[in-house]
Amino acid sequence: MKILIPFFSATGNTAKITKVIQESFNRLGAKADDLDITSYSSRQSALDLKSYDAVVFGAPIFSNRAPRIVREWLMTLDGNGKKCSTFFTYGGFTVHPTHYSTKEILQKQNFVLVSSAEFLGKHTFNLGGWKAIPDRPDKSDFDVARQFVTETYKRFTGEDKNILGELEKTTHTEEELDSFESFRFKAVTQLPTREGKDCSMCMICEELCPTEAMKAEAGEAQAGKCIACLRCVYNCPDEALKINDFSHIWPMKLKMENETEETIRNKKSKIYL
Ligand SMILES: Cc1cc2nc3c(=O)[nH]c(=O)nc-3n(C[C@H](O)[C@H](O)[C@H](O)COP(=O)(O)O)c2cc1C
Ligand code: SF4
Ligand code: SF4
Repeated sequence: MKILIPFFSATGNTAKITKVIQESFNRLGAKADDLDITSYSSRQSALDLKSYDAVVFGAPIFSNRAPRIVREWLMTLDGNGKKCSTFFTYGGFTVHPTHYSTKEILQKQNFVLVSSAEFLGKHTFNLGGWKAIPDRPDKSDFDVARQFVTETYKRFTGEDKNILGELEKTTHTEEELDSFESFRFKAVTQLPTREGKDCSMCMICEELCPTEAMKAEAGEAQAGKCIACLRCVYNCPDEALKINDFSHIWPMKLKMENETEETIRNKKSKIYL
């Protein structure tokens, strides 16, 4: 069985889980290929899925859903009745309705979703001073990833004939969810900007930016295009790109979400069947 694993990963968490998932499928006898769709150029040509029997999509959770650019990319695919699965990494806060909203898109694109999973990962906004689970994903998450593959493979091969059951929905409208997405620029992060003169002009920030928002020469992300994924900040070899310090928001964030550093640290990765 040939399986494709397209994944989006701005700061590496989803990539780590992808690797474990790929290895686990191969150990079960499948031929699993990964496909990194994080860079802008990787999402520009149509993806032909004809040679694959099943697909596993991986992405981080950005404001209660898969990142907008991933959702838009999924809408370009033709599932042609193929079985698929999804998995997400998140920073310990809101998960839903990510699984449900992605399922809705995949069903419209004529995929049959058989399973889903969520995995803990260091929060991207730790780069701006948050303190959310800096050491995940870890072994406990990788063990859940292996279990997820075992259950998903049974469904891909037909040994288990069930498909994914009910998922948690939301009372929020799509417009409200969209406004949560833009709220992050008002409440949390500003646009990444180069500070000082320690830039070697390696162009990495521009090449890696998933939305073409970052222009290395200007040293500033373009408003409207930037999705605050912080891939440029995370990967700048000279640590020349900065975002504002939002560590003062951390206690408020915990209070608003009714969490403590301990409750989010104790969360476990989870499989949906
Ligand atoms: C713009 C943005 C929005 C995010 N929204 C959420 C969220 O709603 N809930 C959550 O728990 N984590 C959220 N996170 C944290 C990421 O989901 C988490 O760090 C993820 O593992 C990053 O994956 P990556 O390293 O593969 O890019 C958000 C991160 C970013 C950059
Ligand atoms: S990645 Fe950093 S060092 Fe390289 S061009 Fe961008 S700002 Fe400069
Ligand atoms: S400019 Fe914005 S969208 Fe591009 S890599 Fe940086 S944070 Fe992500």
